[in-house]
Amino acid sequence: MEIKIQSLGEIRQAAHQFVEAMGENTVFALYGKMGAGKTTFVKAICEELGVTDVITSPTFAIVNEYRSDESGELIYHFDFYRIKKLSEVYDMGYEDYFFSGALCFIEWPELVEELLPGDVVKVTIEECEDGSRVIVL
Ligand SMILES: Nc1ncnc2c1ncn2[C@@H]1O[C@H](COP(=O)(O)OP(=O)(O)O)[C@@H](O)[C@H]1O
Ligand SMILES: [Mg+2]
Repeated sequence: MEIKIQSLGEIRQAAHQFVEAMGENTVFALYGKMGAGKTTFVKAICEELGVTDVITSPTFAIVNEYRSDESGELIYHFDFYRIKKLSEVYDMGYEDYFFSGALCFIEWPELVEELLPGDVVKVTIEECEDGSRVIVL
């Protein structure tokens, strides 16, 4: 499936489409260059899911935790860009997140590729020349 975002004004609608397509899947890996729009899109998805604020977590440099006001469920947003060793990911207890059944959105999944669950959904985000974005899942 492909979702096209012409401008930021369309991002909420795009997030809505994405949420509809998520099904029963819980772990989503977002591949894309720096500046492609991964963080922005995850935030839009979280808003779509009823998140209004971020819960500060002890490992906030790697994972942000959100709670949906609508469902009460937790959502985890990872950014592995700064990890230097996989041991940092083991130490933060990644399994407790990835296998929790809670929604997980992962930026820079290529840095933890071997730790991703088998049923991870791979998503790519690309910026086109005209500044629009294409999301493929
Ligand atoms: N769909 C979009 N349309 C236009 N601009 C966007 C879109 N998504 C993100 N941006 C802009 O691109 C820049 C980088 O976005 P960001 O989400 O931080 O990228 P990433 O997390 O992939 O590095 C930000 O200035 C953001 O406002
Ligand atoms: Mg980012």
